[in-house]
Amino acid sequence: MQLVTADGPILEEILDATYPVWHEGLTRDAYARWNAAQLRTTWGADHLRRFALLDDHGRWVASAKRYLWPIRLDGVDAVMCGVGAVFTRTEARGHGYAAMIIERLIDQSRREGAAIAGLFSEIGDRFYERLGFRTVPLDEVDVQVERRNGAPAMLVRSGDQRDLPALASMHATRSANVRFVLRRDPSLIEYALTKKRLLAGLGQGAADSRAQRQTEFFVAEEGASAAAYVVLTVSPAGWTLEEAGDRDPAGARLGAILQVLLAREPSRAAPLIRAWWPPAMPVPPQMRLENRVPARDIFMLRPIADVQIPSRAEEVFYWRSDYF
Ligand SMILES: CC(C)(COP(=O)(O)OP(=O)(O)OC[C@H]1O[C@@H](n2cnc3c(N)ncnc32)[C@H](O)[C@@H]1OP(=O)(O)O)[C@@H](O)C(=O)NCCC(=O)NCCS
Repeated sequence: MQLVTADGPILEEILDATYPVWHEGLTRDAYARWNAAQLRTTWGADHLRRFALLDDHGRWVASAKRYLWPIRLDGVDAVMCGVGAVFTRTEARGHGYAAMIIERLIDQSRREGAAIAGLFSEIGDRFYERLGFRTVPLDEVDVQVERRNGAPAMLVRSGDQRDLPALASMHATRSANVRFVLRRDPSLIEYALTKKRLLAGLGQGAADSRAQRQTEFFVAEEGASAAAYVVLTVSPAGWTLEEAGDRDPAGARLGAILQVLLAREPSRAAPLIRAWWPPAMPVPPQMRLENRVPARDIFMLRPIADVQIPSRAEEVFYWRSDYF
């Protein structure tokens, strides 16, 4: 069995096979473009690759994406081998190929310096537990924002490229004392934003209502730089707060940004706002978090070097933005 980078005709076959599972409402053509474009981002080109496992006849039997995520674990900079889109072609299932491609990717990533492997499971925890992964709780919450008469007097504008260093610095400050955290530098934040914008853009005009989504990125300015920000996915089902930050520990500017956004349509009922809220992230005074439940996508980690993985939600700082 051979592990290769998936490209050319093999990649097309893998996209044909995985499209029904992961199309997100896109057409087949847009799905291929969404996948290709992620690999062409600055961060994606260096950290993301799709692999295929070939049998002895050179035919692909399984495929997966492999990310090398920069993380910090117990105060030490490290790398996480992120495994996504694990897929075995239908007629080859039940022969251990999914387990094999995961183990191969882990071996290779360990040689490249990874200390931990991680994934989001859509198929429960049993299969991955057998491979040594353990569930790490992430909380999903409803965000309730206190609505006021009129918007708070604060300058809120669309965020852009020049804000990314300020976002990275807010993230570093807020997550400084947490055991497990992604090191989100400007290029990683740009990747996370671009991935969502591409998905929204490529879905425009698609027949499937799941494709109706928009990415919104707003900042509150102080001096010339961003002092707080929020990234939202807006869809007919409601808003997803993908990530957020505030230079101020109380988070009042983040709360005010959300109030400004809600005041755009004062007569409409407040949308449902869902978030994965890192427990170490202060809750702004204008907000309440309700209906705390474990995130539907199960986050699982496995140590692949001499490290201890976190086991409690408080030990993890992770935004929905970085779902993979
Ligand atoms: C899940 C999947 C990758 C497994 O591939 P595979 O090569 O057959 O896996 P292996 O042979 O290594 O292991 C088989 C085990 O997978 C597990 N499994 C397969 N499908 C599963 C599912 N939908 N839910 C839970 N476990 C599942 C079972 O435990 C099975 O063991 P069993 O044969 O004793 O019941 C394959 O079924 C697939 O491509 N599914 C569609 C895509 C998908 O859901 N990927 C997972 C994303 S997190």
